[in-house]
Amino acid sequence: MGDRAVFVRRLRLVACSAAALVASGCSPLDDVLQAVFGRSMRVQSSIGEYENPLAPPEGSVPFAAGNFPSAPGAVNVGQPELADFPAPVTQTQLFQQAPEVTGLVNPVGATPASLARGEVVFNRACSPCHGTAADGGGPVTRAGIPAFSLLTPTAAGYPDGYLYTIIRVGRGIMPPYGHQISHFDRWHIVNYVRELQAQQGLSPPDAADSAQVQ
Ligand code: HEC
Repeated sequence: MGDRAVFVRRLRLVACSAAALVASGCSPLDDVLQAVFGRSMRVQSSIGEYENPLAPPEGSVPFAAGNFPSAPGAVNVGQPELADFPAPVTQTQLFQQAPEVTGLVNPVGATPASLARGEVVFNRACSPCHGTAADGGGPVTRAGIPAFSLLTPTAAGYPDGYLYTIIRVGRGIMPPYGHQISHFDRWHIVNYVRELQAQQGLSPPDAADSAQVQ
């Protein structure tokens, strides 16, 4: 047998082996590479789904950090000095404290504009669970997840600051919405919920709780 014949046979053997590996999918080849080199194509530093490869720009304040614009429509400048604004309440504190203790006074009057904005954001963020009427009958509850009616003497008896804080930090199995709903929008929702409660003859705990500014 000449050299050429031997070469062709070897070539055939290699081609057949490669074809067999390809036919059996990538895994066996990957496993061999993994065993020999300690790594394979499947193990690589690629970007995972939902992974954000970009770090936030230096000096920027993430939207979730505070959401305290200085005025309605103003650019969010982060958390104001604590002297101006009580420290944010955590969900654990919310459970430990009496509802009155949040120390937050509603700075937004229940103007038609506030109620209109409150309706938009309420329907967007709250109605899936609490229902557009706030009676606890949103589509999510039909899937078996309970959500409280906000048209109860209990909910009407909460001070504005407590409702605001529930929106911001969540409570129990209700998720927090502070990172999605900005400071003033939270107050607009509070005003709108108050309006829905008033339509059912439920009055807030103390009218002086809502300062009529703006
Ligand atoms: C994912 C479903 C869900 C969404 C969305 C949701 N909530 Fe809730 N909410 C709940 C559940 C569940 C409870 C009961 C929590 C508990 O056990 O303390 C609750 C409780 C409350 C309470 C207390 C009621 C009471 O009688 O003590 C208020 C007030 C409230 N939610 C307001 C809101 C507002 C305002 C929004 C919109 C920003 C909102 N929720 C969005 C599920 C939701």
